[in-house]
Amino acid sequence: MEHVEVSSLTADRLRQLETKNDAALQGGGEARIVKHKEGGRLTARERLDVLLDPGSFVEVDRFVAHRCSNFGMGDKKVPGDGVITGYGRVNGKLVYVYSQDFTVFGGSMSRTQANKICKIMDLAVKTGAPLIGINDSGGARIQEGVEALGGYADIFLRNVTTSGVVPQISAIMGPCAGGAVYSPSLTDFIFMVKESSYMFVTGPDVIKAVTHEDVTKEQLGGAVTHAQKSGVAHFATEDDRHCMLMIRELLNFLPLNNLDDAPIIPTNDRPDRIDESLNTLIPDSPKKPYDMLDVIQKTVDEGYFLEIHKHFAQNILVGFGRYNGRSVGIVANQPKILAGCLNIQASIKAARFVRFCDAFNIPIVTFVDVPGFLPGTDQEWNGIITHGAKLLYAYAEATVPKITVVTRKSYGGAYCVMSSKHLRGDVNLAYPTAEIAVMGADGAVNIIFRQQITGASNPVAEKARLTKEYEDAFANPYVAAELGYMDEVIEPAMTRKRIIDSLEMLKNKRDTNPPKKHGNIPL
Ligand code: HXC
Repeated sequence: MEHVEVSSLTADRLRQLETKNDAALQGGGEARIVKHKEGGRLTARERLDVLLDPGSFVEVDRFVAHRCSNFGMGDKKVPGDGVITGYGRVNGKLVYVYSQDFTVFGGSMSRTQANKICKIMDLAVKTGAPLIGINDSGGARIQEGVEALGGYADIFLRNVTTSGVVPQISAIMGPCAGGAVYSPSLTDFIFMVKESSYMFVTGPDVIKAVTHEDVTKEQLGGAVTHAQKSGVAHFATEDDRHCMLMIRELLNFLPLNNLDDAPIIPTNDRPDRIDESLNTLIPDSPKKPYDMLDVIQKTVDEGYFLEIHKHFAQNILVGFGRYNGRSVGIVANQPKILAGCLNIQASIKAARFVRFCDAFNIPIVTFVDVPGFLPGTDQEWNGIITHGAKLLYAYAEATVPKITVVTRKSYGGAYCVMSSKHLRGDVNLAYPTAEIAVMGADGAVNIIFRQQITGASNPVAEKARLTKEYEDAFANPYVAAELGYMDEVIEPAMTRKRIIDSLEMLKNKRDTNPPKKHGNIPL
């Protein structure tokens, strides 16, 4: 490189910049960094190094410091004030990021932190690129009082106005208490790290004092708890690095914003690939379970399905896959768990996913094998009516291409809900094993032929005869096909080809809902 003489003044200024940069990179100092990294945690900057393409990160507001003077805070200023903000690339695509630094005032949310985060949120919306928040924070900065609360609320407002404009992803990488949980909960996807990240509104000590319950923070709000029990977390990852890599993986399926198309990833998997094993996958007995994941994996590109909410409401599967390179959202009943019934948790899980896909132009492929809504007082008293309606609402409202494949049962209200023709399903396909009816034959004859059965000389034989009659009439896809409610009855081996044909046909689909401020989804 050519050697250029610099004046001593310039040299001083460059040294000053270097000193300031070094101070900023030190965060909360060596001792706190060492403590933070015990147990394998990465620092706020190391997390960004794993998340972003090498060398792509551009930091914004590195020298911004807080202006609080309460409780001796005037003497304690750290450049950046405990959050690193900026932008970078994930597989070449622009993303905005913030990463809280627990070594600086416990990553707590100050007025200054909030200003920095709001600045990049505004940029994300203006330029149409995803926002990724890496959260590691003890909540509102206690010394700042209401200023910190105002800062949180400014972020919440932006989370809401940004929702549906650019994808928002949250990583929970440490304790997230109090206000720290609400911004993530307003975003589209939450990633947690097992054994090192926690989310709760009130912690174990407060719970002990108020309700006298003894609970550890892992039990109360650890990654496994939120991934399995509450459904708050979409992914429970193994460590910080795994968490960052999974976010990269998810981003590969998503468009940059609501006006963009999802990336097309070229594949060597042929679009007309026929899979004969699908012809024998559905068991002869309608009572016998099988794994719907097999149907998905046998049809998507290279068998790759990124499952979301894998450990929550496992009676329904949701996630992303690709058909001939194109991203789709997949929703599928899982006959292996609860016979694939829809219950409260499954309805909420799938409804939220359907709405995400619809907001971001991602076509939805639905695989149906559902005997109905789960019966029981627990479900009724906890509001299956309202929660089941969420899924109905989400499918009905969605205007992206909707392709439905009925593999076996499609009974009752669940038939209507699961992307039926009546809710603007664009292409509705059925396997020859499909049974599309108000309910299963057994239940149906018990209701409509009760008197005839009890009055018969041989009630058992009479019930068997009537059940067979009902099955012959309805336990098939042909009544629905005659009515045009199913567009085609297909050989299962052809599923991939048919889905790809349909996606290609629907590529330029345009559909809208009537103008309105917003609907009123049954929350
Ligand atoms: C200021 C904080 C802080 C906070 C932690 N620190 N939380 N500083 N405001 N909210 C500082 C500590 O003083 C300490 O500083 C450093 O961060 C590390 O904290 P430790 O307690 O040593 O760490 P650890 O033992 O790992 O415990 C982490 C923790 C605990 C569980 C998060 O710090 C904690 O309980 N913090 C308070 C949580 C909380 O109640 N937040 C307010 C929630 S109310 P030094 O200098 O010693 O390193 C809220 C309302 C918002 O958020 C509502 C909006 C809707």
